[in-house]
Amino acid sequence: MGLTRARPVTVDVYVQPGDARSALCEEARLGLCGHPKELSPKWLYDERGSQLFDDITRLPEYYPTRREREILEARAGEIARLSGADTLIELGSGTSEKTRLLLEAFQERGRLERFVPFDVSEAFLRSAAEKLARQYPRLQVHAVVGDFERHLGQLPRGGRRLVAFLGGTIGNFKPAQRAHFFREVAEGLAPGDGLLLGTDLLKGRDRLFAAYNDSAGVTAEFNRNVLRVLNRELGAEFDLSAFEHLAPFNEEHGWIEMRLISLHEQVVPLPALRRFAHFEQGEVLRTEVSCKFRPEQVEAELATAGLHLSAWWTDAAQDFALSLSFKR
Ligand code: AVJ
Repeated sequence: MGLTRARPVTVDVYVQPGDARSALCEEARLGLCGHPKELSPKWLYDERGSQLFDDITRLPEYYPTRREREILEARAGEIARLSGADTLIELGSGTSEKTRLLLEAFQERGRLERFVPFDVSEAFLRSAAEKLARQYPRLQVHAVVGDFERHLGQLPRGGRRLVAFLGGTIGNFKPAQRAHFFREVAEGLAPGDGLLLGTDLLKGRDRLFAAYNDSAGVTAEFNRNVLRVLNRELGAEFDLSAFEHLAPFNEEHGWIEMRLISLHEQVVPLPALRRFAHFEQGEVLRTEVSCKFRPEQVEAELATAGLHLSAWWTDAAQDFALSLSFKR
């Protein structure tokens, strides 16, 4: 509709379809066959897992998405103005409501020329990019299919860029990975470019616990879904009912950790690896950490990477924060 036709979408591809499976094999060899058992959270998000996460964001106990949206609704205009950006790069997602909030605000200010959605899933990214290009016909949409732990060096150059990393996904990184990530982002930026970062804040443990151990059991289903992914991708034979979900808050590390606990001793075939995973009764498979932050900590970690805090916004309950920092 309308007189302005969508501009063609550019797509750079750094991740091939088979890459994920071989990475999963490698991780499973290390993470399932020894002790302690651990997998990275990215395996939670196949199609079904992404749908389950979407369901989580609407649970009454799961506050982060609502809080972040509250902040964006109040501050998107300010973010667009302060950033001065003509290029918005979004790490992860790219179809969501929060992308739209930002794009609308940038649009109103009239300086946005380019949108760069960055995601691991090519099919998802292509359809999201085409859709956005149709809805914002003046916008140049340049999608990048990559893994933000490996391909940050490939972000498109030029212009005044704002990198958005929202949702609290930074919480999935442990401290060393996080430091590495901030360094990589900073390295890819030029002076005056910025980072818009969403972080979940430390709060009372009861609310934290409830958010990751919801009464409807959706988070449990989301967590167990990783076993389905292993069954499909590795031909594994996990019995989902033989594992219990628990996501306690770890005070020492300041993170929630999602666990799958083996209800009894079991030996699970992993045909793709020609191995077996042995579980003791009560043995834990950790599937995710989700760090909760103190404001000073976020500021200090960004500064260490050369990203200097310029603005800090929270929701009324101070549950979640958005920060805007710049490379000098
Ligand atoms: C998408 C990583 C921000 O850590 O809160 C939700 C994922 N895990 N419930 C989070 C998640 C369990 C979520 N992030």
